[in-house]
Amino acid sequence: MRQRDPHLLEGQVALVTGASSGLGERFARVLAAAGAKVALAARRTDRIEAVCADITAAGGTAVGVRLDLTKPETFAATVDEAQDKLGPVTTLVNNAGVPYGVRPHKVSAADADLVIGTNLRGPFLLSCEVGGRMIADGRPGRIVNVSSMTAFHYSGTPTAALYSVTKAALARMTEVLAVEWARNRINVVGMAPGMFHSEMMAGMISRVGDPSDQLPRGRLPDPSLLDSTLLYLTSPASEAVTGTVIKVDDGQFGR
Ligand SMILES: NC(=O)c1ccc[n+]([C@@H]2O[C@H](COP(=O)([O-])OP(=O)(O)OC[C@H]3O[C@@H](n4cnc5c(N)ncnc54)[C@H](OP(=O)(O)O)[C@@H]3O)[C@@H](O)[C@H]2O)c1
Repeated sequence: MRQRDPHLLEGQVALVTGASSGLGERFARVLAAAGAKVALAARRTDRIEAVCADITAAGGTAVGVRLDLTKPETFAATVDEAQDKLGPVTTLVNNAGVPYGVRPHKVSAADADLVIGTNLRGPFLLSCEVGGRMIADGRPGRIVNVSSMTAFHYSGTPTAALYSVTKAALARMTEVLAVEWARNRINVVGMAPGMFHSEMMAGMISRVGDPSDQLPRGRLPDPSLLDSTLLYLTSPASEAVTGTVIKVDDGQFGR
């Protein structure tokens, strides 16, 4: 696996959701450095424009598109905008997500709509928007879903019940869309990170403290340790890999 090959993803157009911070920002930079043209999507357009400027200065190709995952009626226009600027999307990275550290019996209906809308309904409908275009054009493609280890392990601490449910559904979505679209040569794959440094994690640390001391390797890993998994899942090397969610947790969770 040649992680630093600037031509690895040449010809690809990647749409990365939640690219304004954290893992998504990192993923956008990594895909661009590997030769993909990248559309960075999020609500905070000032932040995605700043990242686009960095990527462009480094010789890559990147544009920003506004996306609010809770508003599916806007998805077609967002994908149109990315396509008009860069060409048809070949790779969708469903990265954006919101945490929700509230005990289940305290969850309001409005908050449930927000968390499910952002973490599940949005990625499902956006995948259908992008996948539907690939199918209509007879183009192969990739969809990478960013789930979470909480999809598979739940300790109750910190409380993230609804978040965990949405991430488990995203893992199942990976499996069922992979079956649905196998004949269309669309690979649907995922990764399930453990706890990594990001803004979301900084928010959790401010609520419940830094968990590093309790982790087997005594650290919260840097997001760069997800690079190779992302590049594997988006590159020709994984052509036959679909319906799989790769766990990357630095040994944090039991098996
Ligand atoms: N960090 C970890 O340890 C960890 C572990 C497991 C899984 N994950 C998953 O990794 C993904 C990225 O998380 P992160 O840790 O990098 O968190 P983050 O820094 O808080 O980033 C979250 C991203 O999601 C975007 N977003 C939130 N609501 C949105 C909406 N309605 N529409 C469009 N974009 C929206 C945010 O952009 P705007 O606010 O600008 O819209 C932001 O770019 C999430 O799905 C998270 O569940 C993270």
